[in-house]
This record gives sequence, structure tokens and C-alpha cells, in this order.
Amino acid sequence: MSNEAHGSVTMTLDESNKSLSLPLRLGTIGPSVADISKIYGTLGVFTYDPGYGMTASCESKITYIDGDAGILLHRGYPIDQLAEHSSFLEVAYLLLNGELPTAKERHDFEYGVMRHTMLHEQLRRFFDGFRRDAHPMAVLCGVVGALSAFYHDSLDINDPEHRRISAFRLIAKLPTIAAWAYKYTIGQPFMYPRNDLGYAENFLYMMNAVPAEPYKVSPVLARAMDRIFILHADHEQNASTSTVRLAGSTGANPFACIAAGIASLWGPAHGGANEAVLKMLADIGHKDNIPDFIEKVKDKDSHVRLMGFGHRVYKNYDPRAKIMERTCHEVLAELGIKDDPLLDMAMELERIARHDEYFISKKLYPNVDFYSGIILKAMGFPTSMFTVLFAVARTVGWISQWKEMIEDPSQRIGRPRQVYTGSPQRDFTPLDARS
Ligand code: ACO
Repeated sequence: MSNEAHGSVTMTLDESNKSLSLPLRLGTIGPSVADISKIYGTLGVFTYDPGYGMTASCESKITYIDGDAGILLHRGYPIDQLAEHSSFLEVAYLLLNGELPTAKERHDFEYGVMRHTMLHEQLRRFFDGFRRDAHPMAVLCGVVGALSAFYHDSLDINDPEHRRISAFRLIAKLPTIAAWAYKYTIGQPFMYPRNDLGYAENFLYMMNAVPAEPYKVSPVLARAMDRIFILHADHEQNASTSTVRLAGSTGANPFACIAAGIASLWGPAHGGANEAVLKMLADIGHKDNIPDFIEKVKDKDSHVRLMGFGHRVYKNYDPRAKIMERTCHEVLAELGIKDDPLLDMAMELERIARHDEYFISKKLYPNVDFYSGIILKAMGFPTSMFTVLFAVARTVGWISQWKEMIEDPSQRIGRPRQVYTGSPQRDFTPLDARS
């Protein structure tokens, strides 16, 4: 539980002059929150917070973000240290269990996850039901939702062992489903997972290999993929995570909840921004056109935005963007791409924007998506797969947040209120009396 009552906020209702003292709850770090849980009972009003931007919907020990300072911590560890020294599966263990694993715990966890990578053979047939031109996010949503029809032995959300196995299954099977969704659209045979490979390595293998010839995954690209997964693993109570928690608060099974999270992530305001960055760079076309483009961005009437810049929470450099930029250089060097016009344009855009008063005054900095599209494009991913990769990585965060919620004794069904602005009560009008 958070620490209670280090001060309070007093709320007074003008009409009745009734007052309520709202206790302040303190987190370990970050601003305190006023507890409004008794507000309706005492004052007879609710609070209004569209988009929940000012509302802490839960207590969590998983991820901390200080958007003003550009800090992102998982279980207290800075994201740059995790990206530098850890691996995706180790970060997955950390998010799920709260501590970094010992060597034995890490081995057992990796072994456990990698033994769940295959899909039930019957699930293969699901893919045949989709059109070949189906968006891979549609396939991901459908197949992940269908997992609950196949793994009945891990659906009891009140059994810790069931929760553990479901987490393993989701983390392990998402790369297989994602790679198969891609293979299906290009008409190539599905590649079965290889459990002797690392997590990201196995994913790249299933994406790029064909049965007709041997395929060796580049260690530099596998490391880059692993790092991209780490950077997207969790981001506290964002839209898709809140969706997973809301769905899970009803007691729905974890596969259904993660399918809901995937649906929420699909929207362009959430998972689709790196695709938009590539489109923007293609539209700009050449470095020489950047000054004109920047002027357009600054003109309010143009409705043009510098994609990959700005963030609802970060009002400073998104710490993940710096690591992405470094990874971008590593990947392009590994692929022998010396002068990438997209990267050149991105760096020039960043340079200009970082010195321009418009962006400085509005605290607009590059976010995680600014460089990730360039990396993924260079690695050969079609843009339709970008959000799918995000979903593969974020599954770890979603399932960790879902597990924390189920294990929280104060957990209740999520049920926001509303301000009703429709018609007051009125009597039914018969059809012949309506004008
Ligand atoms: N380019 C130009 N101007 C911008 C940008 C941008 N990318 N982002 C914000 N602004 C301006 C707005 O015009 C607004 O100006 P005003 O105060 O004069 O009206 C001001 O900055 C505040 O903008 P809001 O939209 O209110 O800021 P908000 O925090 O709601 O938006 C968002 C955050 C949606 C990410 C926004 O910065 C944006 O659209 N960025 C581009 C899209 C993008 O990169 N999204 C990825 C986010 S990261 C992720 O989801 C993983």
C-alpha cells in the first residue's frame, strides 16, 4: 500500500458549504495523489477528468516515469541501464517478479518461456481463415483472443500457477503468431520456432528464414531487436495497458485481456507513430525541403505535425529515443548502409527542431518512434508490422500489470462515471405523433 495521509486537500461544495478532507497518498517517488474515493458519499459529486490525464487509476510498483526529467524506470532500474546491460527476457522476469533474477532463476525463466513457443497445431488453421491482405494486427488480435479456446488448463485467474503459465504462454507465443501473420501475407511457409535460439533471434529467424535453405540471424540485428523489445516492454498506465487492466478487472481471462490491449494499441495515436514518421520523411523527400516543412509545422492552420516529436507525458527528451538513435547507427552499419537519406533527414530535422523556439517553448523532443521506423525499415520489416512488433514487446508489460492487478487485494471492477448531458426523462412519443 502507498503511504497514507501526509497532508490533505480540502474540497468544499459551495452550494451546501460541506467540506471533505481528501487524504494525500504518497508514492515512493513522484507527486502525491488526493484520494477521492469518499467524495460522492460525502459531497454527492463525482470528478470530471476526460482522458483520465489527472487520475491515478491504480497503485503500481512496476514502472515509473518522470516526464519532465525524461526518466523511465522499471522496478527502479533506469531504462538506459537495462537496454545496455540486460536482455529482453531478463527485463520480462524483472517486470513480472519485481527483482532481477539470479543466474539460476534467469536460466529457469528463459527455459520456461522458450518451451512454450509453439502453437497448438489447430491454431495454424486460423491463419487460413484470414484474407492474404489482412493487416497483421487484425490477425494478431484474432489469434491471441483465440488462445483462450486452446489453453483451458491455465485460465483460472485465481490460481497463481495458472497465472504463471499463462504469462509464459503469452510471452512465448506472441513472436510465433506475429511472424506467422507476416509469413501468411507474403505467402511463405510458416517457420516453426527454434528453442535453441535467443528470444529476439528466434523471432528474426521465424520472420526471415525459409525451409529451403539455412538461415543465420545476424547477432548485431538480434541484439538490436532485443533492445527494441526492451524499450517497448512497459510504459505504465498508457491506453493499451489501461485497457488490459479494465478488461481484466471483470475477471476475464488473460488471453482475452491481452487481445483487448492489442486492439487498443492498434490506433495511430498509440502504436502507429513510427509508421507516420516514415511517411513524413518520404513526403519531405529531401533535406533541402526541411526548412519549408518546419515552417508548415509551425503554422497552426496547416495542421501538420512533426511526427515522432512530442509526448503526452515526456516534456523532455524521451530516454528511449537516445538509445533508438544509437541502435539506428549500429543497424545501418551492420547492413552496410553508409548514407541513408532517411536517417540524414531525421538527424537534420532533429537538429533544426532542437534549436527552434517553437519546439523549445512547447517542450517538444524526439520520442521513441522518431528513429525506430528507420531501423525497422532497414531491417526489412514492412510498415504494417511495426505496431505488431510493439505488441510483441508490450505483452510483457501488459501481463505484468494484469498480474499485479489480480494480486492486489483492493482490486475492484473498473467502472468510470460520466456527466450525462443527454435529454432529461421524457415520455415515449407514438410514431404518428412525431413531427
Ligand atoms: N509537432 C508540432 N507541434 C506539436 C507537436 C508536434 N509533433 N506535438 C505537439 N505540438 C504542439 C501542439 O500544436 C500544441 O500547440 P498549442 O499549444 O499552440 O496548441 C502543443 O504542442 C501541445 O500539443 P498537444 O497535442 O496538446 O500535446 P499532447 O501532449 O496532447 O500530445 C502527442 C502528445 C499526441 C504525442 C503530440 O505531441 C503529437 O501529436 N506528436 C506527434 C505524433 C507522435 O509522434 N506520437 C507518438 C507518441 S509516443 C507513443 O505513443 C509510443
